[in-house]
Parts: sequence; structure tokens; C-alpha cells
Amino acid sequence: MKKHFAALILAVLPGLAFAAGSGYPLDKVDIDFTDKAAMQDGARTFANYCMGCHSAKFQRYERVADDIGIPHELMLENLVFTGAKIGDHMKIGMKPEDAKAWFGAAPPDLTLVARVRGTDWLYTYLRTFYEDPSRPLGANNKVFPNVGMPNVLASLQGRQVIGCKQVQVVEDGKKQYDPLTGAPITHEACDQLTVVPKTGSLTEEEFDEKIHNLVTFLAYSANPVKLESQRIGTYVLLYLAFFFVFAYLLKREYWKDVH
Ligand code: HEC
Repeated sequence: MKKHFAALILAVLPGLAFAAGSGYPLDKVDIDFTDKAAMQDGARTFANYCMGCHSAKFQRYERVADDIGIPHELMLENLVFTGAKIGDHMKIGMKPEDAKAWFGAAPPDLTLVARVRGTDWLYTYLRTFYEDPSRPLGANNKVFPNVGMPNVLASLQGRQVIGCKQVQVVEDGKKQYDPLTGAPITHEACDQLTVVPKTGSLTEEEFDEKIHNLVTFLAYSANPVKLESQRIGTYVLLYLAFFFVFAYLLKREYWKDVH
């Protein structure tokens, strides 16, 4: 009995760890493992905006370039800033001790983060940084309260603040419209994330797309064999189709004698 109890505790522990999060509702994101354009854009964002602090050290530049279709020269010119060679792992120069002193926590390696946190979590986390003067670096996060990471994408998204805004009324999961005019029914809600207009270089849709691409790249990085299994799957189907023709011809040959 004791053993069973221990096993039960072990089984539910990981669930509890996540349940202890902020409880902020996560936005859903669709990840397409065949969308190489999204992965390439995500890889660029990752190299430019994340690799100052985060490594992806279980991954090599060369493998990434080959998997998502970036020629090696372009990869070296545009995505490698550390003087690394194409065969090197995606490491960074920042020392964990220094990072801890600067941010209060060391930025974790992100190779597998999409598996640990899930893609919906990442998609929501990266879009919910907001200004909070009470924090040492002036930023806080809805999904990861009091996070040590600064808001590194503010130049793209713009200044996101907590404020009041008109939001559409939703009942039973359906957005409500005025039956006479057809206009959306709204009410003022406070404690909402709002972007101060014209403070970022991207529109809200463009920013969401950027993050979608970045999360697609992180999802690939955590699961590179997914691409491989898709490729192998194609060959298997081709083989089966090819084999079918011969099987059919053979069958016809045998049945000829039976008739
Ligand atoms: C200036 C340094 C810095 C940059 C640049 C940066 N981060 Fe972070 N990041 C951190 C720190 C520090 C933490 C740890 C926060 C903590 O534990 O409080 C963190 C945490 C995270 C986490 C949470 C990991 C976990 O599971 O706990 C994710 C995901 C993340 N960063 C993604 C990114 C992405 C994607 C980018 C690029 C768009 C990025 N970061 C750029 C410093 C940085």
C-alpha cells in the first residue's frame, strides 16, 4: 500500500508543479512541423533576441541549418554571432554566475523548453510581458509572475501596460453582438494588457505571428526527429505505393492460371 501511495504521489507531482503556476489562461497556438518558413523566421528571432542570454546547447548550428533549410553560409553570416563554427553546439558566452547576479536567476538552456513548458505556455509567456516599475528591470509577466527575464521584445511589441480597455462580452463561449446594429457588445475591463499605440515596430497581428514563428522554431528544437519521421513517413508511403503495383501484377499473374 505504502508503495502504491508513493507511486501515486510521484505520478501527480509534475502536475502539481504546473498547477502552482499563475493560472493565467493560455492562448492556443497551432504548430506546423512542415512550415520551414516559420522555423527560419523563428531561428532568426532566436539568434537575434534570445541567444544573448539563452543557449540551445543540445543542438548544433549545422543540424538546424540542414533541418530547416538554411544554407550554411547564410547561417554563419546571419545567425551565428559568437564566432562559432558550423559544427559547434549553440552555446553562449554568458556565465551562469554573472547572469544570476544580473537577473536574480540564470537563463535556462532553451533546447528542450517547448517540451517542458508546452507551446501554448511559451506563446502566451512571450506575449504577456508588461511594464511594472516595482520590478528591478521594470518588467513583469502574466504567466511567470516576478520573472527575472527583462522584456527583450518591447521594441517589436511596443510598451505593454496594465490598463482599462473595452473588451467584447462573451457568453457561453460566444462573442456577443448587438441584435439591431450588429456591433460587438463591449464593456470596460481593467487589469487588462494593452499596448500603447505606435510604440513598437510591429502591429499586434505581426507580433503574434513573430512569436508563433519563434515558438514553432522552439518546438522543432525540442523535437527535431519530428521532421525526420515526417520525411521517413513520405518514403514509406512511396515504397508502399511502388510495392502495391508489383503485388497487383503478381496477383494477376497467379489468378490467370486459376481461371
Ligand atoms: C537579457 C537576458 C535574456 C534575454 C535576452 C532573454 N531571456 Fe529568457 N530568461 C532570462 C532569465 C534571467 C530567465 C530566468 C527567469 C527566472 O527564472 O526568473 C529567463 C527565462 C526564460 C524562460 C522560462 C524558462 C523556464 O522554463 O523557466 C523562457 C521560455 C525564456 N526565457 C525565453 C526567452 C526567449 C524566447 C528569448 C528571446 C526572445 C529570451 N528568453 C531572451 C533572460 C533572458
